[in-house]
Amino acid sequence: TERTLSIIKPDATRRNLTGAVVKKFEDAGLRVVASKRIHLSKAQAGEFYKVHAERPFYDELTTFMASEPVVVQVLEGEGAIQKNRDVMGATNPADAAPGTIRAEFAESVGENSVHGSDSPEAAKEEIAFFFSGLELVG
Ligand code: GTP
Ligand code: MG
Repeated sequence: TERTLSIIKPDATRRNLTGAVVKKFEDAGLRVVASKRIHLSKAQAGEFYKVHAERPFYDELTTFMASEPVVVQVLEGEGAIQKNRDVMGATNPADAAPGTIRAEFAESVGENSVHGSDSPEAAKEEIAFFFSGLELVG
């Protein structure tokens, strides 16, 4: 089975939607195998999103991600990376399919409630960014 890294973003934790988001994952057959609530510094958010460093929204994105606590989780399941992205929906909630997390909960293209790894390489790197081997329970 595959693993992916999920982040429940500040707009969702602020509105007490952590449980509602996790229910979407679990209903889709994904299992939470690691989970913690943390408050990223701006530097840590910048490091995590370094692939977007040249994008015009980088400063807004990293300021947002450091604004309030997030919940970082490892999700496991068959085809977990794609399944997670399917459940998240399109980046812009205006384009997200009905029933997806972003369609139901996201506030804008920036404050869009969740992050999910977009490839096996990204999943491996992002899981290692947040979790040690000891924290990963099968
Ligand atoms: P992630 O799972 O968070 O990586 O989302 P994604 O893969 O659907 O989108 P992408 O990697 O292209 O962008 C990363 C994040 O940057 C998005 O989830 C948004 O939070 C933010 N973002 C993307 N485009 C915009 C934009 O036009 N404006 C703003 N403010 N933020 C954006
Ligand atoms: Mg992305």
